[in-house]
Amino acid sequence: MNAPLIAPSVLAADFANLQRDVEMLNRSAADWIHVDIMDGVFVPNISFGLPVTAAIKKHAQKPLDVHLMIVQPERYLEAFRDAGADILTVHYEACPHLHRTIQQIKSLGAKAGVALNPHTPVQLLQDVIADLDLVLIMSVNPGFGGQKFIERTYERVRQTAAMIAEAGSNAIIEIDGGVNQSNAALLYHAGARALVAGNFVFTAADPVQTIAELKKVW
Ligand code: DX5
Ligand code: ZN
Repeated sequence: MNAPLIAPSVLAADFANLQRDVEMLNRSAADWIHVDIMDGVFVPNISFGLPVTAAIKKHAQKPLDVHLMIVQPERYLEAFRDAGADILTVHYEACPHLHRTIQQIKSLGAKAGVALNPHTPVQLLQDVIADLDLVLIMSVNPGFGGQKFIERTYERVRQTAAMIAEAGSNAIIEIDGGVNQSNAALLYHAGARALVAGNFVFTAADPVQTIAELKKVW
């Protein structure tokens, strides 16, 4: 088994010092940089969009893991790819033509992910799981950093891991929301292989050390 991939979310970074914070992530054991795009429609909050993503890319030495919390994400996939996204994750709840949207992401040469809100049954991914690189299981309701982790997530991870194994899919399970030192190991043992962490990393006295510790959970 391998250590989990750690994807710190820049939503919790200091936006007035983004270059400094991205350079900190470059020096750290972080594997990906998680970029949260919120449109104020799909979720009740607006974060930032294309120019800020491109600015992060300019300094990032790690892949950008772009989480699109927006309606009609198919309209913006190419633009986010051009802005530097390496992984493009859309929400199941925002995609009536999910199969087509996944193919669109792949045709852009990016890794394809689908995110599920806490109430969305994981089994709904059964018919696309073989095409996915990533399943992002939300462990809070999307829209804000710093929320409390939903305990039911562990069972959802186990169910998703079983579905992935049965389909012979290479998809990895990523968890997003309220991840910290006390749930990271349990998530890993349930089958999660990528962990997003926003506030836990950026409010830590030593974020580089905190990222390294999150990786040691397996
Ligand atoms: C929530 C975002 C998360 C968020 C995680 O809608 O998708 O990526 O930044 O932040 P924490 O780790 O603080 O819950
Ligand atoms: Zn996210």
